[in-house]
Amino acid sequence: MKLDDLDLGRVPRHIACVMDGNGRWAQAQGLPRTEGHRAGETSLFEVVQGCLDAGVQWLTVYAFSTENWRRPKDEVRFLINFNEDILLRRRDELHAKGVRVRFVGRRDWRVPKRLIRQMDESTELTRRNRKLTLTIAFNYGGRAEIVDAVKQVVESGVPAAKVTERTIAKHLYDPEMPDPDLVIRTSGEYRISNFLLWELAYSELLFTDTPWPEFGRCALFDAIGEYQDRERRFGGVDGG
Ligand code: IPE
Ligand code: IPE
Ligand code: MG
Repeated sequence: MKLDDLDLGRVPRHIACVMDGNGRWAQAQGLPRTEGHRAGETSLFEVVQGCLDAGVQWLTVYAFSTENWRRPKDEVRFLINFNEDILLRRRDELHAKGVRVRFVGRRDWRVPKRLIRQMDESTELTRRNRKLTLTIAFNYGGRAEIVDAVKQVVESGVPAAKVTERTIAKHLYDPEMPDPDLVIRTSGEYRISNFLLWELAYSELLFTDTPWPEFGRCALFDAIGEYQDRERRFGGVDGG
């Protein structure tokens, strides 16, 4: 689908992507899994550009889950270094495009200090940008996020009777982030894998067989087109 085919007045405000299938894509061509992660960088930047062009204001991408530490040491090391490398190489370009870069996830001892420094510098550099907020979920788990929020609520001493959904939402990693309107998962897996559990309560879910390294601008517009054909009811009734 092309940009012109979309109703630009009804574009999702927030799209979240589970960038899946890098490893299988690489292996299918006789390449090491890490080459799939490399190829995924192009897709990510095509999707960023597509969001800018379509007027999507928030894009959240799942880069590394709290469960991904279970992968072979070499792949984990590659992913950490690669994420740091992307930030170093491409943050000026993101900044020039008006993208505000943020991170969500646990900053535990497993995340190297150097990577944390790059994250903070990217966030600081781009913090005044307003066109698109690109949130990178790194060492992110939806359950961990809820646990971390609950810990803060308990520490703040709010009486149990006063706890509401707002209380929890205010203590999530980025309280300013609106809930995703559309969640896209590539590569033919029909699961959430611990992504944004709280936030996607009413998101439209879209699963595509396309592996992440083959996902790009056109595929993004297809997904937005499909989103525009759906009817969101939020528990109400048609047109109500
Ligand atoms: C997604 O691709 C990237 C990360 C999880 C970091 P995968 O590495 O999960 O690729 P597949 O799903 O094994 O093909
Ligand atoms: C989800 O993909 C995490 C990321 C894309 C970063 P996985 O490939 O880790 O998920 P599972 O293991 O197939 O559920
Ligand atoms: Mg996977």
